[in-house]
Amino acid sequence: MKKAKILVTGGTGYIGSHTVVELQNKGFEVIIVDNLSNSHIEVLDGITEITGICPAFEQFNLCDSETTKSFFLKHKDIDAIIHFAAFKAVGESVEKPLKYYHNNLESLINILENIQSNGIKGLVFSSSCTVYGQPDELPVTEDAPIKKAFSPYGNTKQIAEEIISDFISINTDSKAIALRYFNPIGAHKSSKIGELPLGVPSNLVPFITQTAIGIRQQLNVFGNDYDTPDGTCIRDYINVVDLAKAHVVAVERIIENKNKQNFEVFNLGTGSGASVFEIINSFEKVTNKKLNYKVVARRAGDIEKVYADTKFANEELGWKAETSLEETLLSAWNWEKNYRAKVTK
Ligand code: WQD
Repeated sequence: MKKAKILVTGGTGYIGSHTVVELQNKGFEVIIVDNLSNSHIEVLDGITEITGICPAFEQFNLCDSETTKSFFLKHKDIDAIIHFAAFKAVGESVEKPLKYYHNNLESLINILENIQSNGIKGLVFSSSCTVYGQPDELPVTEDAPIKKAFSPYGNTKQIAEEIISDFISINTDSKAIALRYFNPIGAHKSSKIGELPLGVPSNLVPFITQTAIGIRQQLNVFGNDYDTPDGTCIRDYINVVDLAKAHVVAVERIIENKNKQNFEVFNLGTGSGASVFEIINSFEKVTNKKLNYKVVARRAGDIEKVYADTKFANEELGWKAETSLEETLLSAWNWEKNYRAKVTK
């Protein structure tokens, strides 16, 4: 039986590309829309090498309502959408807030308008644990209070969830699922796709792998005076392939009409936290590479500790993160080595 057709916006990005692989592995037909503002077209080659199928691809900006509308008129057979396309650099969002509000919200609104006019079954939305800020209680559950966002980026995720909730409340034929990611890390085991930060990485693990391979001289550890066992911040680091698999389960839930609510929210984490020093030590152990790092001042906006209560996703979606931190860090290192070997050819 023909599997459904899924639109993946931002599908050449880090989590998007890993999700396209898992969708194709499950027999879904995929079409990617991406404006390549923060990703590379070569990612399509990596996806094709892994699955043997080159996903359909169209390049345009989802903030352009006319182009978006004509895309949907051309593709009347889209069953559901996974919406990744958004800017996601926390620091940049503080310097350029309007760039983030324009891009992240206008693209979403255009998608929702076309869901309504084309009777598309629903939307899986890429959200973030950043909506919780510093939770009062840990592990953090989906019904924890949403606090004032620490950045315009985080605010666009909070506002997006509200827009989706309001949209779904009057378009009850469509369903929506927001997936609140904790800290996605690692790469596909083939090392053919992975995280490709443009410029200097702001996230910890790509900075670690670039330091280990010699592109960065030294890793700065942003503070070791937090109220945690070793003084460094704690996060819930989740393997990107485990995260991608959760998107397949979520889009199947929509297509098979299994949602219990019209708009559902799930935490996607491992349920356990790791400190910055624990990440560094684990990386050194699995790669046998000594990391050059220095403790410096705290980074503005960092919260002290956050990790997920994953019971709802485990029980309701039947999904659980399975990959160990060690295996995930090794996959990040293998990807870094493989990618650098390719680009220096
Ligand atoms: C993790 C820890 C840093 C870099 C952000 C967004 C989140 C998501 C993931 C998009 C912190 C420390 C980091 C470095 C360091 N983004 N660190 N030296 O800030 O938890 O989450 O990225 O979806 O929404 O909020 O991730 O990897 O930047 O930081 O010491 O060079 O590593 O202080 O404690 P973060 P991160």
